Amino acid sequence: MKFFIDTANLDQIKEAQDLGVLDGVTTNPSLMAKEGITGKENIVNHYKKICEIVTGDVSAEVIATDYEGIIKEGEELAKLHDQIIVKVPMIKDGVKAIKYFSDKGIKTNCTLVFSAGQALLAAKAGATYVSPFIGRLDDISTDGLNLIAEIRMIYDNYGFSTQILAASVRHTMHVIDCAKIGADVMTGPLSSIEGLLKHPLTDIGLAKFLADYKKGN
Ligand code: E4P
Repeated sequence: MKFFIDTANLDQIKEAQDLGVLDGVTTNPSLMAKEGITGKENIVNHYKKICEIVTGDVSAEVIATDYEGIIKEGEELAKLHDQIIVKVPMIKDGVKAIKYFSDKGIKTNCTLVFSAGQALLAAKAGATYVSPFIGRLDDISTDGLNLIAEIRMIYDNYGFSTQILAASVRHTMHVIDCAKIGADVMTGPLSSIEGLLKHPLTDIGLAKFLADYKKGN
């Protein structure tokens, strides 16, 4: 399973990259705003900075919601860097645009996906990634992980190559459960990745090994 970090914070991206397990980055307009990155020029420059830190795919989201606007913006974003994946919302014009980008060899991430039907449409249109938001479904008492399982089954039934990018991952158990189900990618905060490190028996065991080493030296 690929690990993406879901942030526009450069320090956190560097930290995840330094750990050696990072495969890419996802951002969205809210994550950009959280870092104080506003205005088209600043946002574009920020994408370039992210691409310089990581070696994998970097999702850059279009703001336009009409077909022509999505195409124009997506083509501009794709030209920024070969690691850029154009992130397109799951709306009618978005699906049409994903098909256009797919035909042109431009990679896409279909975002704001909350149902198996939407995921099926994204795959039919040729999306590179589909992003079901599991945390936001959990927030409204709907099983986000079940959606990942449904999409996995549908994609496997027909051999769709669209990669399931479990998004809106909130914690370490989401990561483990997504891995069990067979999500291709997960994107979450740095804490969801670093949480995988933790086990009290590791800490206790290491303390004992070091103490015993000191006794003999
Ligand atoms: C996906 O690409 C989104 O950026 C993200 O995962 C949304 O997560 P949230 O529900 O925690 O905002």
